[in-house]
Amino acid sequence: MNRPLVIGNWKMNLDYVEAVHLVQQIGVVLRNKPLEHVDLVVVPPFVDIRSVTSVVESERVSITVGAQHASVHEAGAHTGEVSVPMLQRLGVSWILVGHSERRAMYAMTDEVVAQTLRTVTRFGLTAVLCVGEELSVRESGDQDDFVTAQLHAALGGLDEASRGLVTIAYEPVWAIGTGLTASTGQVREMTEHIRTVAASLSLDGVRVLYGGSVNAENAAALMSEGRVDGFLVGGASLKAESFLAIGQAANDCYDGKR
Ligand code: 13P
Repeated sequence: MNRPLVIGNWKMNLDYVEAVHLVQQIGVVLRNKPLEHVDLVVVPPFVDIRSVTSVVESERVSITVGAQHASVHEAGAHTGEVSVPMLQRLGVSWILVGHSERRAMYAMTDEVVAQTLRTVTRFGLTAVLCVGEELSVRESGDQDDFVTAQLHAALGGLDEASRGLVTIAYEPVWAIGTGLTASTGQVREMTEHIRTVAASLSLDGVRVLYGGSVNAENAAALMSEGRVDGFLVGGASLKAESFLAIGQAANDCYDGKR
């Protein structure tokens, strides 16, 4: 089992004042009760990142900081975009690539996902590649083929150095923000499938996370029965209490299995 990773994707929530407050709260709880066996990451909106990293550094909060997206380009005339080097300079070490909301609402194609992933890893940052099927695909039973195609498109032909900088998050679109969590059986099957496909692309031992309505109540079962390496959490990451309860579940599961 890989060391668990729990990532809080704040999406377009929390301004920089609220962001500072949340990270301070996380810091207070972690100081009293450190989570030794889990890596915690928060992924704020771009405009919050500088404030969040300042608090993390000055108050020595044991979390790292990610970004929700990055431009496929390194610099230049790309109004409204933010580059990987800019994020790196801010202390960001993780970047979500190809979140289903970017794919569906901002026309991020498989090709752009693949190129963005290469830009992220070229600068030595870790790419969290998001994959997952829509409800219609799940209903027709084609989810394995669908996710295989997404993985091949993003990870095929990746060089060795880059392969070590990839984490995969399985986020079925129908489970995101709906309260409809995938069952532990569905998660286990897909996680195994993803590991097999990843291994065929020379990404052995890659961390595979689950995302989609994860909360403090379902995290322990998803972790142990779903056999994931952690979570990509949306709504429940906006409160210190629920985010850290998920972290605690991952921590305890790993501790119990070592
Ligand atoms: P929810 O946890 O709100 O369903 O969001 C999942 C997600 O999209 C995380 O990236």
